[in-house]
Amino acid sequence: MPSFAQLVRRVEEELGQGHRYAHSVRVARCADLLAQRHGADPRKARLAGLLHDLARLYSPERLVAECEARGLPIDIAERRHPMLLHAKLGAAIASERFGVRDPLVLSAIEKHTTAAGEMSSLDCIVYLADSLEPGRSFPERADLWRLALDDLAGAMRAVLLLTIRHNARKGVGSVPATLAAAASFGLTVADGVPPEVRASAS
Ligand SMILES: [Fe+2]
Ligand SMILES: [Fe+2]
Repeated sequence: MPSFAQLVRRVEEELGQGHRYAHSVRVARCADLLAQRHGADPRKARLAGLLHDLARLYSPERLVAECEARGLPIDIAERRHPMLLHAKLGAAIASERFGVRDPLVLSAIEKHTTAAGEMSSLDCIVYLADSLEPGRSFPERADLWRLALDDLAGAMRAVLLLTIRHNARKGVGSVPATLAAAASFGLTVADGVPPEVRASAS
């Protein structure tokens, strides 16, 4: 396995855009810190954080085409919003081009955008690092980051609720994976979370 510094250089080349590269490095640092605080493996967290957005700059057409070429499943929500596919395609690219075989690291990359009904500590760490890295500018960010340092599940509940409310205000609804994640962290209709709907029914 190459050193972290070597990986950072390769990610910079692969992404080819300074803004996304800087975000990826910040997510790696935040994930490392959260892992140290919560007893997860900081090296795995850093690796997943660094590689999480490898496909983020692909066009919608390319995301669909590359997922189809690999036989990766595409659900209805992903057909409507191909940007969502950058997470699972990013995991495939991390495996193919960076030699990542660790299922924990690949899972954290795959779940970083929508979260999921079943999440490991590492999945939560990378999801929160991506949501709360200091380049994000929403007003609750700093408080939520402090919460994440102390309470991973509490931060997951807070970030998921914020995301679901934000989506509702935009009138776009949340994808089933996000609603399943909310349910798994104990959020209910009383919190303003709509019941989960199956992707096939939407
Ligand atoms: Fe992403
Ligand atoms: Fe990201």
